[in-house]
Amino acid sequence: MSAPLSKPLVGQVALVTGASRGIGRAIARRLGRLGAAVSLCARQRTPLEEARKEMEAEGIASLAVVADVSRSQDVDRLVQTTRHELGEIDILVNNAGVGWFGPVQHATEEDWDRVLETNLKAPFLLLRAVAPAMMERRSGHIIQIASLAAKNSFAGGALYCASKWGLLGMTQSAAEDLRSFGIRASVVCPGSVLTEFSPHAGKNPDKMLRPDDVAHAVEMIVLQPPRSFISEVLLRPTEKP
Ligand SMILES: NC(=O)c1ccc[n+]([C@@H]2O[C@H](COP(=O)([O-])OP(=O)(O)OC[C@H]3O[C@@H](n4cnc5c(N)ncnc54)[C@H](OP(=O)(O)O)[C@@H]3O)[C@@H](O)[C@H]2O)c1
Repeated sequence: MSAPLSKPLVGQVALVTGASRGIGRAIARRLGRLGAAVSLCARQRTPLEEARKEMEAEGIASLAVVADVSRSQDVDRLVQTTRHELGEIDILVNNAGVGWFGPVQHATEEDWDRVLETNLKAPFLLLRAVAPAMMERRSGHIIQIASLAAKNSFAGGALYCASKWGLLGMTQSAAEDLRSFGIRASVVCPGSVLTEFSPHAGKNPDKMLRPDDVAHAVEMIVLQPPRSFISEVLLRPTEKP
């Protein structure tokens, strides 16, 4: 029996990292409203549990797993728990991310490790954990939330740009490894989004993107027909903020 039109993702399982607030929470909610069962993760338990309860109140099947995705043991536990509780993963959204902004010469090795391990190593660990089962089933979406900082360089952005340019390059290569198995690995590159991520000094918040705008791009990717592959989305606010 096919899924109802209003809930085209019924029967599918999505895993969204960094889903306790901001963009990840909006993506998780959107995929849940489309019918998917959703596994949410973040490091802090309380906001994560609040996000899960919000979804539960809407009747969305969901699971909250406290995990630091930069640690391979946490990633393995996250993926195993999701499979055990909800089923095999159809949609992976690597959204968890952190920033460090300032002159590169002021950054410490710890700053570098934190940004690169969260924004680049974690998506690799998660991709590696879910891809083999997707290959067996010959379907799956792996969606990386990068940034327009994956395309542009700017003063103070060295660590963040390195992580997001790296994520773009890793994903484009991975997409070539995986596409013949029916798996689509894609990248969404948003401009400034109104969240707690960074102060966005000097920008007009009224003109900035909202988390739901990024969720809309993810919806577009997961609802495309199997033969088509939106590999990259550049998402800008209509007016410069
Ligand atoms: N906001 C923007 O302007 C913007 C623009 C383009 C791209 N992006 C990208 O979009 C993504 C989400 O950004 P956002 O604005 O929604 O940020 P946010 O409001 O700061 O939310 C980040 C989320 O990631 C989680 N997280 C951070 N490190 C984690 C880790 N090691 N393990 C597990 N979860 C972790 C956070 O929860 P815990 O702290 O509890 O772990 C939180 O749920 C990031 O990748 C960011 O680079 C943001």
